[in-house]
Amino acid sequence: MAGRVGGKVLLLTGGAMGLGKAAAKALLAEGATVIITDIDEAAGRATAAELGCSYLPQDVTDWGRWQEVIAEVEATHGRLDVLVNNAAITVFGSIADISPEDFKRCYTVDVDSIFMGCKAAIPLMAKGGGGSIVNFSSAAGNKVSPDLAAYNSAKAAVVTLTKSIALYCAREQNGVRVNSVQPGTILTPNVESVIQGTPDPEATRAAFSVAQPIGRMGEVEDIAHLVVYLASDESKFATGAPFIVDGGLSIA
Ligand SMILES: NC(=O)c1ccc[n+]([C@@H]2O[C@H](COP(=O)([O-])OP(=O)(O)OC[C@H]3O[C@@H](n4cnc5c(N)ncnc54)[C@H](O)[C@@H]3O)[C@@H](O)[C@H]2O)c1
Repeated sequence: MAGRVGGKVLLLTGGAMGLGKAAAKALLAEGATVIITDIDEAAGRATAAELGCSYLPQDVTDWGRWQEVIAEVEATHGRLDVLVNNAAITVFGSIADISPEDFKRCYTVDVDSIFMGCKAAIPLMAKGGGGSIVNFSSAAGNKVSPDLAAYNSAKAAVVTLTKSIALYCAREQNGVRVNSVQPGTILTPNVESVIQGTPDPEATRAAFSVAQPIGRMGEVEDIAHLVVYLASDESKFATGAPFIVDGGLSIA
C-alpha cells in the first residue's frame, strides 16, 4: 500500500506514449496497479513491458469495447479506483478548411470517448465506494486559434462535460470525483515531430515556447505529477474542476 496511490487500481487510456505513458510511469512509482489501453497495439504492449504494467487493446470510440474493458478490469482486479481518460487526437483546420467528417472524427475521439469511459466506469467505481476520474482537456480549450476549430471546441466541451458528470456523482453521493486537466504545450515525441515537420523547425520551437508566458514548453512530468495528485486521496475535496497547468498560456 506504500505510495501516494498505493493499493489503487487504475485504468489509463492512450498510455502507449506521450503524456499517458509519463503519467502511467509516475502512478506506478507511487504504488498504483496500472492498466494502460491504446489503439496502437504494438506500442501499447512495448510500453507496458517497459513500465511493468498491464495493457489492453482498446479503441476509445467503441462503446462495446469500453464495456468489455471495464468487465475485464472487474474480473481481474474486482474494482476500479481511478480512470484517466487521456487518449485524444489533434485535428487541425479552420472552419473553412476542415471537413464535416474530420470535425466529427475529432469530437468522436476527444469527447465521445470521455462520455463513454465515464458512463462505463462509474458504476464499478461506485460499487467499490468511489474513486477519481481525470479527463484530459487542454489549455487549447481556453486559448483558441482560427486553425484549431475542432480541437479547441472539443477540449472546451471536455471541461463542461466533466462538470456535469461531477455534479451527477455528487448528487448520487457515490464517492466518485471527476476533474479535467488543461495542459499547455508539452514537449512530447508527437509535438517534437510536429515541430520537425514544419519548414523552419527552430522558428516553430521558439514560437511554441513563447506562447507560454513562462517562456518554454512543459515537460511530461509537469502533467504526470498533476495526474498523481488527482488520482490520490490528496485531492479528495476536488471535483468538477479544470486544473490548468500551462505556463500561463490560458491567461495571456
Ligand atoms: N502534448 C501536448 O502538448 C498536449 C497539450 C494539451 C493537452 N494534451 C492532451 O493530452 C493528452 C495526451 O496527449 P499526447 O500529446 O501525449 O498525445 P499522443 O498523441 O502523444 O498520444 C496519444 C495516445 O492516444 C492513443 N490514441 C489515439 N486515438 C485513440 C483511440 N481512438 N483509442 C485509443 N487510443 C488512442 C495514441 O495511439 C497515443 O498512444 C491528449 O488528450 C491531448 O489532447 C496534450
